[in-house]
Amino acid sequence: MNGPGEVRLVVENAAVRYGDLPVIADVSLEVGSSEIVSIVGPSGCGKTTLLRCVGGLTLLNGGQIRIDGQVVDKPLPSVSMVFQHFGLFPWKNLWNNIAYGLKLRGAPREEIERRVAAAIELVGLAGFEKSYPHQLSGGMQQRAGLARALVMEPRLLLMDEPFSAVDAQTREQLQFELLRIWDSRPTAMMFVTHAIDEAVLMGDRVVVLAGRPAHIRAVRKVDLPRPRDRKVVSSRPFINLRDQVWYDLFNHQGGAGT
Ligand SMILES: Nc1ncnc2c1ncn2[C@@H]1O[C@H](COP(=O)(O)OP(=O)(O)O)[C@@H](O)[C@H]1O
Ligand SMILES: [Mg+2]
Repeated sequence: MNGPGEVRLVVENAAVRYGDLPVIADVSLEVGSSEIVSIVGPSGCGKTTLLRCVGGLTLLNGGQIRIDGQVVDKPLPSVSMVFQHFGLFPWKNLWNNIAYGLKLRGAPREEIERRVAAAIELVGLAGFEKSYPHQLSGGMQQRAGLARALVMEPRLLLMDEPFSAVDAQTREQLQFELLRIWDSRPTAMMFVTHAIDEAVLMGDRVVVLAGRPAHIRAVRKVDLPRPRDRKVVSSRPFINLRDQVWYDLFNHQGGAGT
């Protein structure tokens, strides 16, 4: 199994308020250059807010976020994000959706052609280049969302519940496809989910976010070998970890307000 690599993302004492409402308090974590860190927590606890801060889309009220040593105060070109509801442009076909970021960056035509084709191939959407989002299933739209992020070859990939809007079978399929893609080129990833089993399946570590304001309640190391396949979810270490995270979330004997 690979190690986490050098530190790529540092979140230091992050705090966020919406008006007077504190949403995130004193969250610190690191992600290595070849590490997947899962963030799990109940709906509404602040997972998207945290991810948006790392993506430079929401500003912190306290603390600091650094990527490769650079302070995040705006979206950085080295970071790509995959959203729960796909976030595709409905008026652009698949090819143009995926090419958009590279065009914006002014990449040469031949490079765009080559990289977009490779990304489409990687997520299994070859042949659908001219389709519009509404002509694609939810699963295919999220493959496109993934391709659009991967084509940028980001140094940090941010995933916000990417598989929670697709059906259970598609979700399982996409989980293992993402793992396969990651195995072929490991990179730093923050994987946000409210599903405990998904957090354990994807992550090298699981960060349990809970409370109001949200803070880190536990961090669990996931010592499951990679590559991971379907067999892993019925293994004893997987089940133990899943139970452990469940207890972290729901059976925590913390003080008031946790
Ligand atoms: N732009 C905003 N303005 C005010 N409150 C917000 C905003 N975005 C989110 N919230 C609130 O902050 C809390 C955390 O939201 P969010 O980060 O979306 O949680 P999660 O992704 O874990 O479901 C929720 O109570 C939500 O209602
Ligand atoms: Mg969310």
